[in-house]
Amino acid sequence: MKIGSLEVGEVGLGAWQAGGGAWSVDFAELRRAYEYALDNGISFIDTAEVYGNGKSEEFVGDLVKNRPHVVVATKVAGFHWGRILKSAERSRSRLGRIDLLQFHWPPPIYVPICKVVRDLEKAVTSGLTAEIGVSNFDVALMEKAATCTKKYEIVSDQVEYNPLKRVAERLISLGRSRRFVVIAWSPLAKGAVVKENLGGDRARMVDPTIRRAHTPEGRRVVQTVRRIAESRGASPAAVVLAWHKAKGSYPIPGVKNVKQAAEVVEALKLNLTEQEVRQIDEASAVFNEGKLWPSFFRYVPGFLMKAAFYVAKI
Ligand SMILES: NC(=O)c1ccc[n+]([C@@H]2O[C@H](COP(=O)([O-])OP(=O)(O)OC[C@H]3O[C@@H](n4cnc5c(N)ncnc54)[C@H](OP(=O)(O)O)[C@@H]3O)[C@@H](O)[C@H]2O)c1
Repeated sequence: MKIGSLEVGEVGLGAWQAGGGAWSVDFAELRRAYEYALDNGISFIDTAEVYGNGKSEEFVGDLVKNRPHVVVATKVAGFHWGRILKSAERSRSRLGRIDLLQFHWPPPIYVPICKVVRDLEKAVTSGLTAEIGVSNFDVALMEKAATCTKKYEIVSDQVEYNPLKRVAERLISLGRSRRFVVIAWSPLAKGAVVKENLGGDRARMVDPTIRRAHTPEGRRVVQTVRRIAESRGASPAAVVLAWHKAKGSYPIPGVKNVKQAAEVVEALKLNLTEQEVRQIDEASAVFNEGKLWPSFFRYVPGFLMKAAFYVAKI
């Protein structure tokens, strides 16, 4: 499949885990896991300047330097709306190359979306990236952003999407007609849709999607995934990633070990039947409502957000 001009497999990888910080990880095992995935069919990796304050980008840069087939995506922090080019230059020096540059979350309300889009376009003109995308933009913001483009299209919108949070489905429909791809972050609901006992990583502490897994409806989703996995002789993670493929989203799971990486690779070859997709859809129908991104965040001044990220060590 394609994200703009970039040719990618149907499942990618996310590398937030490599920032450390919010995730507890064994870095030697993490490296083996990402190497395994990239050497066995996965050809897209996503990171961001805020993940471990550049640590994840350094990890990815090291992984991709001898793997020219891998498409590299990163994200400029939403509080860096006035310094997109400078941030992208720093990211490129850590990564070696950027194929897809995304704006991480909607800017504060007082910053015109068109200013952000214009600066992203400048990043293409100046050779910093091949393609541009955004992240956490809802349908209204995506419609607005599309009116701002002059030279280049916005080829992707990276948002939370998984069977416990399906509000992005209107965006997926819009993407089909406007030719942008919805990249699904937390495609496994940080693990909550594939297993019951989750680690106590800080990234999981205040996640409303994870709480849904413990409601009766959420448990029904987890059981449905498990039942399909057993009947297909597949892992629950591969089943959920195959559901993403069927729904038209592009999943970028984070992994911590080689076993999880192998299950991401497994998903490349697994296709669900229409009936299996319908079973997951029906079990998760109640999770099709809510907001993609809390509008409250858009009223927080950029410098406060930056300070919060610094303290929280995302
Ligand atoms: N744009 C944004 O605002 C935004 C926000 C969040 C994330 N992202 C991106 O999206 C990527 C993925 O999101 P995410 O890491 O939050 O969530 P995720 O991919 O849904 O979940 C990742 C976690 O699930 C567990 N897991 C992974 N594979 C598994 C398997 N096969 N079986 C069982 N458990 C498995 C692992 O944790 P344990 O081993 O500890 O269980 C792993 O850390 C990130 O790396 C990042 O690139 C973007």
